[in-house]
Amino acid sequence: MQHFGWFLGAGFGVQGWGDPTYGIGYDWKKPTVYQEASREFERAGFDLFIIEDGVTVPDTYGGTAEVNLSTARFVPKHDPLPLVPYLLQATERLGIVPTLSASFYEPFTAARLLATLQHFADGRLGFNVVTSGSDIAAQNYGLDKQIEHDRRYDRAEEWVQVVRALWRSWDQDAVLEDIAGGVFADHTKVRTIDHKGEFFQVRGPLNTVPLPSEPVMVQAGASGRGQTFAGRNSDVVLALASTPERMRTYRDGIRQVAVEQGRDADDLKVLFVVQPIVTANAEEAASVREKRRTLTQASIDEALQSVSYLSGVDFKKFDLDAPLPEITTNSNQGTLDNFVKSAPAGSTVREILQARAEKDGLAIIGTAGEVAAHLGELGEAVGGDGFLFTGQVHPALVHRTLDPLVPELRRQGILRTELGDGGLRANLQDF
Ligand SMILES: Cc1cc2nc3c(=O)[nH]c(=O)nc-3n(C[C@H](O)[C@H](O)[C@H](O)COP(=O)(O)O)c2cc1C
Repeated sequence: MQHFGWFLGAGFGVQGWGDPTYGIGYDWKKPTVYQEASREFERAGFDLFIIEDGVTVPDTYGGTAEVNLSTARFVPKHDPLPLVPYLLQATERLGIVPTLSASFYEPFTAARLLATLQHFADGRLGFNVVTSGSDIAAQNYGLDKQIEHDRRYDRAEEWVQVVRALWRSWDQDAVLEDIAGGVFADHTKVRTIDHKGEFFQVRGPLNTVPLPSEPVMVQAGASGRGQTFAGRNSDVVLALASTPERMRTYRDGIRQVAVEQGRDADDLKVLFVVQPIVTANAEEAASVREKRRTLTQASIDEALQSVSYLSGVDFKKFDLDAPLPEITTNSNQGTLDNFVKSAPAGSTVREILQARAEKDGLAIIGTAGEVAAHLGELGEAVGGDGFLFTGQVHPALVHRTLDPLVPELRRQGILRTELGDGGLRANLQDF
């Protein structure tokens, strides 16, 4: 059995731009389309729905936002937090996971917001912690540039400690609601946290009531420091890896970090992002593959704006047909590394792009039966814990993917038939 979920890489942003069904019967700016998708995920037996976020109009690629704005890539997007109550209202058991930046939310603000939402959610809330690597994001929050990569993680680590300490600043039995005795809460069970750390100074206590359970922490650190942060603190790790061997190595590494921290490795679920592309038959699958393998100016721009945005390095400045020089970044190191290593050292940018196009990347292309069988085999080879489908949640894509695939995943015996009602953490611990 595997856990399944959906990672909305476009965030609360444009859904379906470029698809012939764009905008038909839905408006990406309003909650309804996400509510409908959530109901589909819950019906399917998925554990969670993760919503990406970012706070910039990316203009790294060629020093202009032209490609991003004209193709609606990574921008525009709404803030995912106000969407959460709508998604909770539309569903009963699905875990809802908005993204939140530890670099830009004060820990008290985050702890209070998430505590409030967790009360609405009855234990179904998670939060995807990111550190927002780009300088242009930092410049929206009073900084000239983003702080150094590993220090950003040190700071995020302290941020998580403070948030959790605030959640624990009320004992579970602090609220008496003793009407006869005239006592609402026992003041001896509510304490200041008096945190004075390297990055934060927070008095506490939190001014909400104890949480039904702590929100599930999700993280996607891929660099060495990122993996340590995730292994120490996360309940779920969002991971990108393109081969079963890399998936297994990554999962083993993260679990090892968790064990070194005295955690039970099975408390941490590593979920790999995949993109199922369900076709009617083998001919259609072959034609989808062929199309993806043919580099065009549009596909080159699409791939390079994406790696430019994620790494903070302008890939437009490199000659497509010259070997890619050695580059480093203060932003997403794992993403950059993954891109560069797609082809042998010394390859040109075009060769890297071609190698990536040949490999299908995160895509699993085939009939529903083939995709389900592939996921079953992949799950066996990796040894657990499950997968996150990625894609925009416009109705055509959700139905095109889930309607044929869910019955096949059930037939394979890898997708549960029912979610429990004990909240996201309990569902994740079912297996
Ligand atoms: C699947 C996945 C989803 C991510 N989602 C977000 C996101 O919503 N917002 C964001 O700012 N960063 C996001 N990131 C970036 C990560 O939070 C992290 O910064 C990145 O993996 C780089 O970490 P590293 O430097 O440790 O490799 C995501 C990364 C991955 C792999």
